[in-house]
Amino acid sequence: MVRQPTPEDKFSFGLWTVGWTGIDPFGSASRPSLDPWEYAERLADLGAWGVTFHDNDVFPFDADAATKEKIVDRFQEATEQAGLVIEMVTTNTFSHPVFKDGGLTSNDRSVRRFGLRKVLRAVDLAADMGATTFVMWGGREGSEYDGSKDVFAAMERYKEGLDTVAGYIKSHGYDLRIALEPKPNEPRGDIFLPTAGHALALIAELEHGDIVGLNPETGHEQMANLNYTHGLGQALWSGKLFHIDLNGQRGLKYDQDLVFGHGDLISAFFTVDLLENGFPGYPDGPSYTGPKHFDYKPSRTEHMDGVWESARACMSTYLMLAEKAKAFRADPRVQEAMTYSGVFDLALPTLSEGETVEDLLATDDGFDPDRAAERDYGFVRLQQLALEHLIG
Ligand code: GCO
Ligand code: MN
Ligand code: MN
Repeated sequence: MVRQPTPEDKFSFGLWTVGWTGIDPFGSASRPSLDPWEYAERLADLGAWGVTFHDNDVFPFDADAATKEKIVDRFQEATEQAGLVIEMVTTNTFSHPVFKDGGLTSNDRSVRRFGLRKVLRAVDLAADMGATTFVMWGGREGSEYDGSKDVFAAMERYKEGLDTVAGYIKSHGYDLRIALEPKPNEPRGDIFLPTAGHALALIAELEHGDIVGLNPETGHEQMANLNYTHGLGQALWSGKLFHIDLNGQRGLKYDQDLVFGHGDLISAFFTVDLLENGFPGYPDGPSYTGPKHFDYKPSRTEHMDGVWESARACMSTYLMLAEKAKAFRADPRVQEAMTYSGVFDLALPTLSEGETVEDLLATDDGFDPDRAAERDYGFVRLQQLALEHLIG
């Protein structure tokens, strides 16, 4: 039996996850839509700690100021009563057709100005709600046809937009950090910032990059045939893992947004191992302490019972994997196998302290490449031990 999640586990869900009614390009809704506060209350009952939302998950795109305020107040009250933290707020710059060519990088300057105003208003809302992360997923920033976009200009405008938003956060003294969410494609044929690496490279060019980091999503990296756990690892190493979107994906296809662990299970195991146990060679190294945020979609085949069941499944899969990952690292056979494999040795600097490059070039330490090539690394045994812990 898996234990009940508690707020200490810091699980959070986007309103748009359990709130997805099943509308897809081929069919209409397969289940009803509830009010935002109803989702929040149910999530709290299930043991979630936090909730996140896009501006337009809570109020309509064209709501006037009074309507917005009324709905937002009601939602905030409900989350407070339920004991839920609003940890992240984001903007929808993808649903309305005005954004069909992007929000910050549309070829139409008037659309970019409108998009930027919408993002800035959502930043105010995020700060009002006490959120500490502001995710920016530029789902419509991109193209279908290469000739339609000046990529240099698009990067200039992306940078301009992000620096404007980050500068605004600073000048208002908001306790808020931006987390960029990479995705290779869908809804655009090609989305700018397709991977964690592309996003890190853009952040390095920003004026206010110190408060801009990443929100990597499992399925998004896997859609690009990349290793999600490596993406998280490099983001941690760069001090840029600000937030995460956990879900499941099976191979190279559309963004499946399956329940966490319902895609590539062994990769989910190592994701949880990294999040819970950190880097093996750096016990005091950087670790992720933020929310375990699920961005998944309850399959369209499920009705409301299945919606709650799938939210429960995300959390219980994480808890099961966390337990197994702890046992994996604590197992003396695993420690021995890691030692044999040289996992801890990778943390040793390649040059000795004070050694110069000339010293290195001058040393002949009798190294025999042919002998070294005979080393057995034992990675297969280590992986099998992981599998034993996972399913044994
Ligand atoms: C997607 C994305 C979105 C974002 C969300 C928050 O593929 O649709 O993952 O769900 O995470 O818009 O910014
Ligand atoms: Mn997604
Ligand atoms: Mn996401």
